[in-house]
Amino acid sequence: MILADVFSASNYARDSEFSTNLLDDPVVIQFAASNGADLARAAELVAPYVSGIDINCGCPQKWAIQEKIGSHLMSHPDTVRDMIRMTKATVNIPCSVKIRIHKDLRETEEFVKRALSVGVDFITVHGRTRRQKSTEPVSLDGMRLVKETSTVPVIANGDVFSLEDADAIVKATGVDGTMSARGILENPALFAGYKFTPWECVEDYVDLALSYGTNAFIFHHHLMYMLEKTMSNAERRTFNSLTTIPAIIDYLEENYGLDIARRRAQRAEQRIAENYLPPQ
Ligand SMILES: Cc1cc2nc3c(=O)[nH]c(=O)nc-3n(C[C@H](O)[C@H](O)[C@H](O)COP(=O)(O)O)c2cc1C
Repeated sequence: MILADVFSASNYARDSEFSTNLLDDPVVIQFAASNGADLARAAELVAPYVSGIDINCGCPQKWAIQEKIGSHLMSHPDTVRDMIRMTKATVNIPCSVKIRIHKDLRETEEFVKRALSVGVDFITVHGRTRRQKSTEPVSLDGMRLVKETSTVPVIANGDVFSLEDADAIVKATGVDGTMSARGILENPALFAGYKFTPWECVEDYVDLALSYGTNAFIFHHHLMYMLEKTMSNAERRTFNSLTTIPAIIDYLEENYGLDIARRRAQRAEQRIAENYLPPQ
């Protein structure tokens, strides 16, 4: 979630919050905005580099509600309709919304109809209300209702931790796809059918992060998610005390046999075997 008004106003914000490369395709950028003008301005700046613009209508944090963004928008369907309309009039790429459900699902149906009336291109629905915690189960009824109301593809989100979870949600609701957040942070190979994070995935992440550049906090955070199930409490304590990228790499080399050079050679062989051609 990138704040649309800050993104438009500051070159520094654009540099630090958004970067992409030729291998990232498709890329959908998600903005938080409280009005159509802010969103359309940010969309226009970023349009040459992305395949779609998504509107965050789900963030439940207190500061976001105060800023009239995120899940605050779930009770302002007319504002969201105007945001979609203005964005679609400004840029020629798909515009989608990521929503939550309401306690009274009739409100959700109305919200979806309003978005459809101005040509929203797809909808992602997190099957919880803005007040529900992520420990509470998702509402399959809510997801199904969004799918049945929609004439555009619907992606269901919430509690997808395995391919089986994804299949079960699709079967129960008829949605066109699923999205995972916590599950994919923990196991980025989830949608390839892996039950646990394969070690190659950790090595690939380290390699990509070093090649493209990231900060120590984000680097540590992603690795913590990926290694959570592998580490003992004592290992986690040691790992959490590491504050620099070199210290984290040393730790992984010494304790887990991290070997980026070997993994690179392995990937190169795989690409040759698959006749892989990088994008031009
Ligand atoms: C670390 C983290 C960051 C998130 N950031 C965003 C975000 O930027 N935009 C958004 O729409 N949802 C965000 N979410 C919410 C997720 O997209 C998702 O709706 C929620 O976690 C439920 O899905 P899950 O059960 O697969 O985790 C975030 C969730 C987590 C755990």
